[in-house]
Amino acid sequence: ALDISKLRSTTGLITLDDGYANTGSCQSAITFIDGEAGILRYRGIPIEDLAERSSFVETAQLLIFGRLPNEAQRSEFRTLLTENAALHRDMRKHFDGFPVTAHPMAILSAMVNAIQTHEVRDEEATDRQHFKQAAAGLMAKTRTIAAASYKSHIGQPIAYPRYDLNYAENFLHMMFSVPYRDYEATPEVAHALNMFLVLHADHEQNCSTSTVRMVASSGANMFASVSAGVNALWGPLHGGANMGVIEMLDEIRTTGIKPQDYINRVKDKKSGVKLMGFGHRVYRNFDPRARILKDAADKLLDAMHITDPLLDIAREVEQAALADDYFASRRLYPNVDFYSGIILRAIGIPVDMFTVMFAIGRTPGWIAHFREVSENPAQRIYRPRQVYTGAQLSEWQPRSER
Ligand code: ACO
Repeated sequence: ALDISKLRSTTGLITLDDGYANTGSCQSAITFIDGEAGILRYRGIPIEDLAERSSFVETAQLLIFGRLPNEAQRSEFRTLLTENAALHRDMRKHFDGFPVTAHPMAILSAMVNAIQTHEVRDEEATDRQHFKQAAAGLMAKTRTIAAASYKSHIGQPIAYPRYDLNYAENFLHMMFSVPYRDYEATPEVAHALNMFLVLHADHEQNCSTSTVRMVASSGANMFASVSAGVNALWGPLHGGANMGVIEMLDEIRTTGIKPQDYINRVKDKKSGVKLMGFGHRVYRNFDPRARILKDAADKLLDAMHITDPLLDIAREVEQAALADDYFASRRLYPNVDFYSGIILRAIGIPVDMFTVMFAIGRTPGWIAHFREVSENPAQRIYRPRQVYTGAQLSEWQPRSER
């Protein structure tokens, strides 16, 4: 039990809120969530409208600059994205330095941090005049790094972005084109990937975004701040869950275990197994992103004329979990990661790149939060307090007596 007297520090009363479940860390005007009602809005616009009707780039502009772009703003940002997509020639040396077994998230965070060392002076990243260019450069280069690291991994030459393609199409082109044969995404595949990116673009004070804000609050530049966010996203309880879901569904398929028996294993706390893609700190009735993605997964597979046994297993697992009191009583429902992997698999993205796809989608959100922190003249450095539980006073002992 918590000793309440410990909450009193030498300088006053400290609130202790494990995992910040009820503690607001900041004021923000970017994204609104009502976890009880399952509402998600970027700058006030419902996620359902954006997912169906907006491109990822205009959604990024909405998040970063506060409103949907008009034609001139859209075209200006598009040009900045194109002009800033290429990596500095010397960044190739970093790619060559990673072992082939390197995790794509380790490569992404290192390379995002490396961008500034090659081409951006520190002051440019926080300087308002250069912000738009730096923001477009980071979005474009994140995509380039992801595709280039995949190409290096499979030993193929890097494909350069094309001016005539949109953001999602360009990513697919850079991933899957081979010399003398350009990959052309079908409209259904491009739409599904665009929707995936839009749905991941921001989610207020989640672990990685709070990390970006924390680092930014010290005055660190945008690349350093976002690189820290990539590392926070990597964990299996956050962005890493989208890989975890596919691994879980694959385990159910290959071992032949019945979904209900898998659910029983999850319910046995001693197993240490969680149902990946289920549960959310904020959404307590449903995650609106999961609903959209479930429908999108059905449509994409239909359009591509493919069947994926993992989709059937996912549906069975979801049904079994929703009918089970363990999940109902804890208000655990599918989250964004439960169906997103089915879409990425259908598109042909390798499983170990799933969390990188999440990072590409989340980059505009991280940039928007970086901007909110760095442009706030009243911003204080993030510096949480703690409740100290160690020894009060210990005696120093000479090494021979320890
Ligand atoms: N499977 C089984 N039990 C679960 C799950 C799950 N997926 N999620 C929560 N629980 C249980 C907990 O064990 C706990 O049970 P108890 O009250 O008997 O101890 C209860 O539900 C409450 O869970 P907390 O861990 O307190 O919930 P918290 O808000 O801290 O965690 C989280 C949220 C991390 C998302 C959690 O639900 C989880 O680990 N889910 C699986 C991983 C996942 O899908 N992560 C992606 C999240 S979305 C995103 O990052 C994009």
